[in-house]
Amino acid sequence: MKRLAIIGGTGIDELEGLEIVGEHEVRSPYGAPSRAIQEGAMAGGQVFFLQRHGSPNAIPPHLINYRANLWALHSLGVDDIVAINAVGGITPAMVPGRLVIPDQIVDYTWGREHTIDDGRSGQMQHIDFTEPYDRDLRQALLGEADRAGIAHASSAVHGVTQGPRLETAAEIRRLAQDGCDIVGMTGMPEAALARELGMAYASVCMVVNPAPGLGDLPIALDMMQEILQREASVVRQLLTRLLAARYSS
Ligand code: HPA
Repeated sequence: MKRLAIIGGTGIDELEGLEIVGEHEVRSPYGAPSRAIQEGAMAGGQVFFLQRHGSPNAIPPHLINYRANLWALHSLGVDDIVAINAVGGITPAMVPGRLVIPDQIVDYTWGREHTIDDGRSGQMQHIDFTEPYDRDLRQALLGEADRAGIAHASSAVHGVTQGPRLETAAEIRRLAQDGCDIVGMTGMPEAALARELGMAYASVCMVVNPAPGLGDLPIALDMMQEILQREASVVRQLLTRLLAARYSS
């Protein structure tokens, strides 16, 4: 049986319904993960849970130790990762409240420790990242969303910015020209590190605001919170179905 991990983002501090059976304080060669990794049972399946911002939401996107987080999950025998990301919507279909299962990434982050390749292996490690998300895991998520009647966008280009500030209106216009549908701050280097470590990785994004310059001013943080709370329960429903279908005996 494959092992699933869920990486929670803003708004997903705990996995409701998770019966915790243990907590793993993992030390990695890169330092400590964002917090202890919970192991538990949900919908008859085993699952690991890690909140990437620590607890309670404290570590900003550019300071998350992505290498430690991914290394720690790998050390626990995790095969598959579903990452949850809160994002802004750029293209018209990406309205607040939309659930999105992206299929592509444009990486605008800089200065993050983005690889475990330290050059010592003596071999070039050019991972294939043509399709940055795992095809099978994405299809499984899409299938469960369809079967549960959960409205979603089945593809999108996820632009990942450095943060922690939000983008300027001109930066969002540039992202739109680059083909980005949604914008977040935590999708990279997480996805690439998962690929380097041989774990399947897919993302479920929640649109919580129109991207800067596309909605009312100022950007309403309380509206983001409200949408996050509402969408978190839909994400949970999707994850529960995925667990029951693929990770329970
Ligand atoms: N931009 C970047 N990251 C985000 C946004 C946004 O508008 N909303 C949520 N995360």
